Amino acid sequence: MPTTTAVMPQLRVLFTREQIAQRVAELGEEITRDFTGQSIIFVGVLKGASIFLGDLARQVKLDATFDFISVASYGAGTKSSGEVRLNKDVDSSMADKNVILVEDILDTGLTMGFLRKLFLAHQPRSLKIAALLDKASRRLEPVHADYVGFVIPDEFVVGYGMDYAERYRNLPEICVLPPELQ
Ligand code: IMP
Ligand code: MG
Repeated sequence: MPTTTAVMPQLRVLFTREQIAQRVAELGEEITRDFTGQSIIFVGVLKGASIFLGDLARQVKLDATFDFISVASYGAGTKSSGEVRLNKDVDSSMADKNVILVEDILDTGLTMGFLRKLFLAHQPRSLKIAALLDKASRRLEPVHADYVGFVIPDEFVVGYGMDYAERYRNLPEICVLPPELQ
């Protein structure tokens, strides 16, 4: 099977599918341990977290359900404006649930900071954040993820659910998008 970089040589692979699968399995084991004997609800942030949520959930050996929200931060391109708007709310009640918010990337933390406040207002039994990637050096709001796949430097990444202008979400690897393509 040709790799992404054979098809799109401009992209540099940061994490291979094997590295991602290994780390996601570890996170799944951690969540399984932390919530033994309890049920959980995964709440994915559309669309970027969809593939991570699907893989993570299948590594968690617990009674679990899914829900999804959609947020938009005003502004386009690769920079978040910091102003967050809820486009789609959850379908089910979060009250007294063990909620795991699943996000692709923690960048400035503004999106997750907004979501954390919103979800805490619904009085869940517990609220955890799972982020596949953490650009820790870019944080503006002090948001801490309980489950982090990889801490990465300040580079724009695509693939494994993550996009640039809606493209590249279907790449199986996590790749760096060079500035000339942004
Ligand atoms: P924050 O509010 O700055 O933490 O923004 C988080 C959101 O910005 C993530 O959920 C992503 O949708 C998007 N984002 C940040 N960095 C990247 C990246 O490198 N590639 C793709 N999306 C990104
Ligand atoms: Mg996102």
